[in-house]
Amino acid sequence: MRHWTRLGEAVIPDTTQTLVLYRGKDDFSIRISGGGELMSTRKHGSEDALGSLPCKRLKERETARVLIGGLGMGFTLAAVLAVVGSQAEVTVAELIPEVVEWNRGPLGEYSGKPLDDPRTRVHVGDVAKLLKHRKAEFDVIAMDVDNGPEGLTKRTNDWLYSSAGIIAAQEALRSPAGILAYWSAGPDQAFHDRLRRCGFLVDEISVHAHGKKGARHTIWLASVEG
Ligand SMILES: C[S@@+](CC[C@H](N)C(=O)[O-])C[C@H]1O[C@@H](n2cnc3c(N)ncnc32)[C@H](O)[C@@H]1O
Repeated sequence: MRHWTRLGEAVIPDTTQTLVLYRGKDDFSIRISGGGELMSTRKHGSEDALGSLPCKRLKERETARVLIGGLGMGFTLAAVLAVVGSQAEVTVAELIPEVVEWNRGPLGEYSGKPLDDPRTRVHVGDVAKLLKHRKAEFDVIAMDVDNGPEGLTKRTNDWLYSSAGIIAAQEALRSPAGILAYWSAGPDQAFHDRLRRCGFLVDEISVHAHGKKGARHTIWLASVEG
């Protein structure tokens, strides 16, 4: 049996649950108390894709403005930074302050320490609040705050996947060429249809969690211009 060392625990706001950080022999795992694994440094192919796929579609990457909902283990942030240019600005909103601290420690080495990049801005708080107040600011918004539209961690995250949340994200995009990207553990036809009803052309992409075999996750890329 594998040996895990418990390194930290953080309350998930507005819930009775916690996130727990574990270190294995050569990996890290973040689990929900009483539940399953939320993230692992072993598997991040789809988290990488959430960052790289929308940014690669931008015509102007040099000065791109990107918002990421959920830092997690920093893989989406690192993937965005690898694609955008030197004048870009990437804001990552993370609800749980301890998650940011964990990424500033040894965990951050697994994603290449993207918090140290001068293009990174960290917002500790709910990405929903940011979306409600920022208008016409971002070229890409990449959302991975939960397990997908059917969330695991926090019921109030449902708003982000509702029509009101999608429209708020749409208003936070700064040009008609802007792209919304959403990660999910699996397909969700109702969410796909909701994106279309909000006026988007939608690409639904199935991405391996790790390597070229095994479990797949879903990424939706939604844009007005296609
Ligand atoms: C599945 S992880 C993200 C994984 C990330 N894509 C990566 O590359 O590692 C979800 C993260 O979103 C954070 N989160 C959950 N709800 C949030 C919210 N409403 N606003 C901002 N962050 C949130 C969680 O604390 C967690 O760190």
